[in-house]
Amino acid sequence: FGEQPLRGRRVVVSAGPTYEDIDPVRFIGNRSSGRMGFAVAAAARDAGADVTLIAGPVSLPTPPGVNRVDVRSARQMHDAVLAATEGADIYIGAAAVGDYRPSETAGHKLKKAGGEPLRLELTENPDIIGALAALPRRPFLVGFAAETRDVAGYARDKLARKGLDMIAANEVGEGRGFEVADNALHLFWADGDVALPRVAKTELARQLLTHVAHRFLASQGL
Ligand code: C5P
Repeated sequence: FGEQPLRGRRVVVSAGPTYEDIDPVRFIGNRSSGRMGFAVAAAARDAGADVTLIAGPVSLPTPPGVNRVDVRSARQMHDAVLAATEGADIYIGAAAVGDYRPSETAGHKLKKAGGEPLRLELTENPDIIGALAALPRRPFLVGFAAETRDVAGYARDKLARKGLDMIAANEVGEGRGFEVADNALHLFWADGDVALPRVAKTELARQLLTHVAHRFLASQGL
């Protein structure tokens, strides 16, 4: 980024999975490694932004110059993101937020049910980016859509339904998307789209930030 298009701007990025505790030793999680979100945070920093990274449980080093807040559950991530985005310019939701959590977290390790099925009741988690979209003064909102099929269809639907400014869609599964070092993205916004072919996540994040900066500045009339 020669001219640092996001100099003086505040960008918040969420990354990684969330863990929803069942009992003191078990949880419901997902396969997100956090690598894409961490690369996005580093790319936003390189674009000149003041960056806060809200990280779920991942084993990745903090990109130098980025402020990091560690969280575990979707509800903790919700609270951390809402606090960090107050007055922020851009929110990029790269976290794979768990849609559900156990309705109750047991205080002690659950025991086998003696051959009977063990039923786990789940409660829906808050939609973090949806909560931001409902705010009167909201940041420019970039969501991710990881899908296993009909990527473009679900992405366009999610863009409209969640009231986002841009969505970065990718196909996951079978060595694509999660737990790998490279990725491809297709960006959609209200009146356009661009496909970013498969490259290393660090390079892909830089390309993503170029488009985010461009659309964000256009939304500001710049
Ligand atoms: O999980 P889904 O594909 O619907 O995620 C789409 C976008 O919504 C992602 O940017 C994700 O971070 C965000 N999301 C969220 N809160 C949730 C679920 C998803 O912010 N509870």
